[in-house]
Amino acid sequence: MCDKKILCIGLVCLDIINVVEKYPEEDTDSRCQSQRWQRGGNASNSCTVLSLLGAPCAFMGSLAPGPVADYIVSDFSKRGVDISGVAWQQQGETPCACCVVCPGSGSRTVVLSDTNLPDATAGDFSKVDLSQYKWIHWEGRNAGEQVKMIQQVALYNSLLPEQQKITVSVEIEKTREPLYQLFCQGDVVFVSKDVAMHFGFSSAQTALRGLYSRVKEGVVLICAWAEKGADAMGPDRVVVHSDAFPPKALVDTLGAGDTFNAAVIFTLSNGGNLQEALTFGCQVAGSKCGVHGYDGIVVRHHDK
Ligand code: ADP
Ligand code: FRU
Repeated sequence: MCDKKILCIGLVCLDIINVVEKYPEEDTDSRCQSQRWQRGGNASNSCTVLSLLGAPCAFMGSLAPGPVADYIVSDFSKRGVDISGVAWQQQGETPCACCVVCPGSGSRTVVLSDTNLPDATAGDFSKVDLSQYKWIHWEGRNAGEQVKMIQQVALYNSLLPEQQKITVSVEIEKTREPLYQLFCQGDVVFVSKDVAMHFGFSSAQTALRGLYSRVKEGVVLICAWAEKGADAMGPDRVVVHSDAFPPKALVDTLGAGDTFNAAVIFTLSNGGNLQEALTFGCQVAGSKCGVHGYDGIVVRHHDK
């Protein structure tokens, strides 16, 4: 019972990361400081961090057989992430992103090719054995199908006592209208600074106050705001805040948000409260910004 897993559903892609001293001018030809391949995608990155935190976890998303998928599968396996739920596609290509990471400014610029690989569907999700999971997180993508998946969880939960129910979290990161239907789907809802700004809010706190009416009764809405840390609002409508924990030197902010989400989910799924979850989320995400990739994140947590 206690080793039930956390399942993250969303994108996995190959990140080809160029670390540069200065962001290049358009139409110039320059050298980077270093270059590497890394498994990427929000849900996939959150799995990496959950596994570093010691939480049994699984990833569900689409892959197309081929050398890029081989690299990705072997990396998942190194991290001990269960990928039995991956939807293998006969058509389309595994997405790939060109990423430019600039330690000098802390910027990370991503150009993602995510064109023709079908997303995992509610049909794929119906094959998942839900009894293995205590928490399922959706990165907002094909929202219509994702709502149907969440309805399957609601049905499953309706037959169970409170302590055995699966917690549902969703992330609304991109400013795409169809994703906004996910606001009312999660027990925990992560909304990005981008989306908050798109709705006209200029701080996490005002975003929470303004967007809380979109979520279900009694749930938690969370908004991270880069170097300003993160805020959250629960059913009592009190805004909880954590400052960021900036690393000694800013190195690589790619995946900071995915790291934050993982550390928050980790804390809440172990019985921590909202303040503990936000603080831990900012600590782990801050530590991530001080290293390239994910190895070397310094994690101090107290098991509940
Ligand atoms: P992303 O752009 O990857 O989605 P966010 O801007 O949402 O990331 O940031 C998530 C968390 O990562 C923040 O709450 C903060 O704790 C941490 N973080 C991000 N950027 C920085 C930074 N420059 N310095 C310190 N912490 C940061
Ligand atoms: C980081 C990330 C990268 C990926 C991009 C996709 O949050 O998941 O790994 O290339 O975002 O938008």
